[in-house]
Amino acid sequence: MTQGHTYELGYKPVGSSRTIATRMLRHEDMNGSDRLFGGRLMEWIDDAAGIAARRHSGCNITTVAVDKLEFKYPAFLNDIITIEAWVTHVERTSMEVRADTYVEDTRTGERRMINHAYLTEVCIDDEGRPKPIPWGLVAQNAEEHAECEAARKRAEIRRLRRVEGI
Ligand SMILES: CC(C)(COP(=O)(O)OP(=O)(O)OC[C@H]1O[C@@H](n2cnc3c(N)ncnc32)[C@H](O)[C@@H]1OP(=O)(O)O)[C@@H](O)C(=O)NCCC(=O)NCCS
Repeated sequence: MTQGHTYELGYKPVGSSRTIATRMLRHEDMNGSDRLFGGRLMEWIDDAAGIAARRHSGCNITTVAVDKLEFKYPAFLNDIITIEAWVTHVERTSMEVRADTYVEDTRTGERRMINHAYLTEVCIDDEGRPKPIPWGLVAQNAEEHAECEAARKRAEIRRLRRVEGI
């Protein structure tokens, strides 16, 4: 379970925000080096993270920050990629979403992670102002507990960075 805020509606399990987006790469997704254009992937990651955040919060949301977005391997024409996104941490009006992107080898079924990112999504009201997230987050197994604990540390680092202006 995350921090000591009081949540209006109780807690939701980590799994309830899990979002899976699958795409096959087309010519229009490639850059000048015939690889997946990073900006295109960032758009898809932002979409999947936004859906995960809406699933958790039930609110309209906006992306306020993207952390640690790493392109580990390229992807190419006709590759099938899958983005998996889920909420890992909930603060008062903001939540962290983890988004992992995989490329799939359809012959063997193996998947390789090509990108890994953390996004901060903020719940907003009709005027675009931050509003409290009504649901807390509850981890249901050891892996989720470890992820939530790491996410709590990342949130603290982000808070310190903002305070220090770095
Ligand atoms: C998101 C937005 C509504 C926040 O408004 P704000 O006046 O900065 O409000 P606050 O300072 O109260 O921050 C709201 C929450 O966002 C978090 N936050 C703000 N800036 C952040 C940043 N750079 N990194 C991580 N979290 C951040 C705050 O910690 C706070 O979280 P908490 O309530 O859970 O503690 C406003 O900055 C905005 O509209 N930004 C543009 C978003 C957008 O248009 N995104 C689409 C991409 S173009």
